[in-house]
Amino acid sequence: MDIKKMNLGQCKQNMSICLCSGQGTIALELLEQAPEIDTIIVPISGGGLISGVALAAKSINPSIRILAAEPRGANDAALSKAAGEIVKLPETNTIADGLRASLGSRTWPVVRDLVDAVITVEDQEIVEATKLCYEVLKVVVEPSGAIGLAAVLSDSFQNNPAWKDSNHVGIVLSGGNLDLGVLWDSICGL
Ligand SMILES: Cc1ncc(COP(=O)(O)O)c(C=O)c1O
Repeated sequence: MDIKKMNLGQCKQNMSICLCSGQGTIALELLEQAPEIDTIIVPISGGGLISGVALAAKSINPSIRILAAEPRGANDAALSKAAGEIVKLPETNTIADGLRASLGSRTWPVVRDLVDAVITVEDQEIVEATKLCYEVLKVVVEPSGAIGLAAVLSDSFQNNPAWKDSNHVGIVLSGGNLDLGVLWDSICGL
């Protein structure tokens, strides 16, 4: 894919050339600090974040695996990958409120071609991962940002033979905009 031919000049649909380049620096930093990383897991919503990460990471190491993490209640990326075209959901329902947007026409080609798979997780797994970030990492992460950890810990990742050779996994924890009351209620409901 030649990014110069993608007409990415305008700042919309999460995918201007500037946004994409900026988000790609996450992959640059990650691979600079830990070049042994063979797999990167990134939250997906509109797809801009993962597009930048995938373009940068695969330009450094074409065999690196890029996985998207998505809530079951807003699983348009997983459905789109399965259908081979953009699927829009009539409604979404998830605690990961940052991940309710749909893929756009600019992000879709990158997600289609460079994202190896989408891991779908339940809200309960997202809440548990958010809690783990506090307890173990001492990092404030919102549910949308902790979903990559939820994906790595999920049965669908751990028990998938296709990913047995993912030995060095980089997880993008992407945001800390948190309503503590909502998280608290969710933890109490576990
Ligand atoms: C915390 C957080 N992480 C990740 C994303 C995903 O970003 P994108 O829409 O570029 O896929 C969002 C989207 O707003 C978000 O709020």
